Amino acid sequence: MNILVTGGAGFIGSNFLGQSVPRRPDDLFVNVDKLTYAANPANLAAVATLENYRLERVDIADRDAVAAVFERYHPDLVVHFAAESHVDRSILSPGDFVQANVVGTFNLLEAFRADARPGALFHHVSTDEVYGSLGPAAEDGRFTESTRYDPSSPYSASKAASDHFVRAYHRTYGLAVKITNCSNNYGPYQFPEKLIPLMILNAIDGKSLPVYGKGANIRDWLYVEDHCDAIWAVIERGRIGETYNVGGDCELANLDVVGRICRVLAEETGKPASDYERLVTYVQDRPGHDLRYAIDATKTRSECGWSPRHSFETGLRATVRWYLEHRDWVAAVRSGEYLTWIERNYGTRAASASR
Ligand code: NAD
Ligand code: TYD
Repeated sequence: MNILVTGGAGFIGSNFLGQSVPRRPDDLFVNVDKLTYAANPANLAAVATLENYRLERVDIADRDAVAAVFERYHPDLVVHFAAESHVDRSILSPGDFVQANVVGTFNLLEAFRADARPGALFHHVSTDEVYGSLGPAAEDGRFTESTRYDPSSPYSASKAASDHFVRAYHRTYGLAVKITNCSNNYGPYQFPEKLIPLMILNAIDGKSLPVYGKGANIRDWLYVEDHCDAIWAVIERGRIGETYNVGGDCELANLDVVGRICRVLAEETGKPASDYERLVTYVQDRPGHDLRYAIDATKTRSECGWSPRHSFETGLRATVRWYLEHRDWVAAVRSGEYLTWIERNYGTRAASASR
């Protein structure tokens, strides 16, 4: 079958292709990616030379280019990862998120509808951030598939809009769609603007570890390979038109995550953990910062037979080792645009005295 993967050169997409292309030699994987700052062709070195892999450099906000890709490959399966994905960037440049996430998803749905291939499936990869924020305590519950949408950031609003379009195209035009809403991912190839890789790399370099607010915000962490497994489980065993929540049952406050990174780094490098912990700096909070995310993945586990294979301990150690062992990858992504971003996001965030 022809499988069109959008955003395959980004963090999750490249892990998905890295797992899937060698295992499915009879399927053709077409990676449709604009190759933005978040993409890195080096992420795909292992699959780039395989016969059943192609890269099409396309902006999904370009309707004609998207239509041309569908006319060329007539995909049996679309796995849609491509998006602007970073909340802080969405606060500073919201228009980019409307283009990529809303207009881009709309263009893909239109091309998929026009192609009208019998049996074809559109799998939309989304986030738990569409549900907004939970209260701080376990009694405040977790997100289920019927939790009301209540997005807080331009990023989550744009993903919510894209989810609505996907569902609307199922109800209105009968397209075969599935949606997964997943919690925070971490692992190899993650661009170091997100919490875990940013903290690992800053700590290695002896730079400050910028914790927003008091570091009390809670996220539910999942190792990226487990997310990729969940996507395949839903593609293969989920019901058409349904939404599936994916999460790691791993709620941690940000300050706890940073402390664990410091301890794992200390074990891996032989330095005292205090060398890293003293780098923690409390900085001005993110506006509209959601307090807590937590996923109830019961439906995905019971209907699709999925469960995560990695604990946070094993996943974090593998991730820290990966960043320690891939200094060339790090050096390449941390030049140019990255330095501009760090200045733009952190340059104006005065240190606060939260502790
Ligand atoms: P990423 O930012 O690492 O990668 C995004 C990829 O999409 C890049 O390769 C980029 O070049 C491509 N892209 C961006 N705009 C494009 C456009 N207009 N046209 C074509 N390609 C474009 O993102 P990620 O962390 O890998 O996230 C992938 C998907 O998973 C996103 O849809 C995101 O909302 C979702 N998601 C991410 C997380 C997470 O923790 N990272 C959690 C849940 C869901
Ligand atoms: P992030 O990795 O940006 O993911 P998301 O906002 O999509 O959940 O951030 C995870 C948490 O870490 C979030 O509560 C914000 C916080 N954070 C910091 O405290 N400092 C930072 O430098 C970054 C990037 C995030």
